[in-house]
Amino acid sequence: MEKILDVREMTPKDRHPRIFETYNALGAGEHFILVNDHDPKPLLYQFQSEHDGEFEWWPLEQGPEVWRIMIVKRGDKAVNRTVTDYLQTDHHRLDGIFARFQEAVKDKRWEDASKDFREFRLGLKRHIRAEEDILFPLFEEKTGMFDGGPTFVMRSEHQDIQALLDRILESTDARDEAGVADASEALTSYLADHNAKEEQILYPESDAFLSDAERDQVIKKAQTL
Ligand SMILES: [Fe+2]
Ligand SMILES: [Fe+2]
Repeated sequence: MEKILDVREMTPKDRHPRIFETYNALGAGEHFILVNDHDPKPLLYQFQSEHDGEFEWWPLEQGPEVWRIMIVKRGDKAVNRTVTDYLQTDHHRLDGIFARFQEAVKDKRWEDASKDFREFRLGLKRHIRAEEDILFPLFEEKTGMFDGGPTFVMRSEHQDIQALLDRILESTDARDEAGVADASEALTSYLADHNAKEEQILYPESDAFLSDAERDQVIKKAQTL
């Protein structure tokens, strides 16, 4: 069973102590899902200062009424974490949610499918924003490569990916199994190629020219999205 901590009914002063108590009780690699009625950004900043580099912060739902965040205690608590490690971990996490979504569609569990797909879509959109708004501008500034460079290609692929996300959402809401299967197959093969290029070229190159402090800033900023 998934560990869920719903703090919506708790008095505000009890919330943070309970959350850190729950986090501290986790084993390495374990996680819980925090459910809250507002954006828990102050909590993220507290995690970043008290548990620097030790946790993952993956929003699954961001309002307008409910916020759900998956908080993971990392097994590998290396402080000087690379951008490659952070974004590649997110690729794998998203692949896992997408596989769960496809299973749900196959079993015609449409409510699960809808929830899984919304988690996936939110996660992938945040991931793309982390790349386009945080990492790519640094890459472009350091290399002087803008139009025609690797980030230019990745940005244009992101547009195709977002169009496929819209198609899958539409088919999922219409409970159109063939439509979902079709667009999902297209997205899976598109992402496999896109992610491989990022993981093999763009992320390692970025890590190579970023300082420890800059890498840390990229990850911390990405978590706030
Ligand atoms: Fe990307
Ligand atoms: Fe990516």
